[in-house]
Amino acid sequence: MRRPFVVGNWKMNTDSHSSVTLAKAVASGPLEIAGHSVDVAVIPPFVYLQAVAGALSASSIAVGAQDIYYEQKGAFTGEISASMLKDIGCSYVLCGHSERRHVIGESDELINKKVTAAINGGLLPIFCVGEMLEEREASRTSEVVRGQIKNGLAGLSVEKVSAVTMAYEPVWAIGTGLTATPQQAQEVHALIRKQLGEMYDSKLAEEICILYGGSAKPGNASDLMAEQDIDGLLVGGASLNADDFVAIIKAAT
Ligand code: 13P
Repeated sequence: MRRPFVVGNWKMNTDSHSSVTLAKAVASGPLEIAGHSVDVAVIPPFVYLQAVAGALSASSIAVGAQDIYYEQKGAFTGEISASMLKDIGCSYVLCGHSERRHVIGESDELINKKVTAAINGGLLPIFCVGEMLEEREASRTSEVVRGQIKNGLAGLSVEKVSAVTMAYEPVWAIGTGLTATPQQAQEVHALIRKQLGEMYDSKLAEEICILYGGSAKPGNASDLMAEQDIDGLLVGGASLNADDFVAIIKAAT
């Protein structure tokens, strides 16, 4: 039985005051629900992680980072290691988010190093995959997503991959207001599960949590969550509004 999981990716938003206010407002909303039937995490910008982790320390809401570097320490100006993230109370880290793939230019190879470093460093990666609009229109969704999974998880054992949460985020649905229909999302989620079954085993495929992300909001959360292979939501824009995010969490229970 997979537990629902709702994650708020704040991206490059909030400030020192509003990050803590938002975290506290989310924590005061669904506390009981979050503790029982749905897991919740928020992913603030690096510079507010510590303050948000402090504000959420008495709650069951977990904190994650938006990125990680794969080296353990040393002369890597500007980068942040797994142990630094653990040290300040992070449990999760996003890897392979489409904005890092397509805006920053991260390769599958780099993403693979980050997923591996996260797991080896005791963090839980949220590994994102998803096709661009032109790839969907060229009927290449399956090929693209399969390739991202194969390359992103290369070299990892089934035990290591059991620490991973998958996230399907079609690039054309991110921040555009265009949501994949529940059927479109379900089709790719089923494909992801099948691929993991082929790469590892049916137990892992059955147990792994697969989130959907891309213009998720209170109005579409329950329809998306009703699909068999959609276990949770990775929410961008709507996670910046506590009422909307709490409504999405409630819809996921
Ligand atoms: P939006 O919910 O703003 O479309 O963002 C989705 C996303 O990229 C979450 O990681």
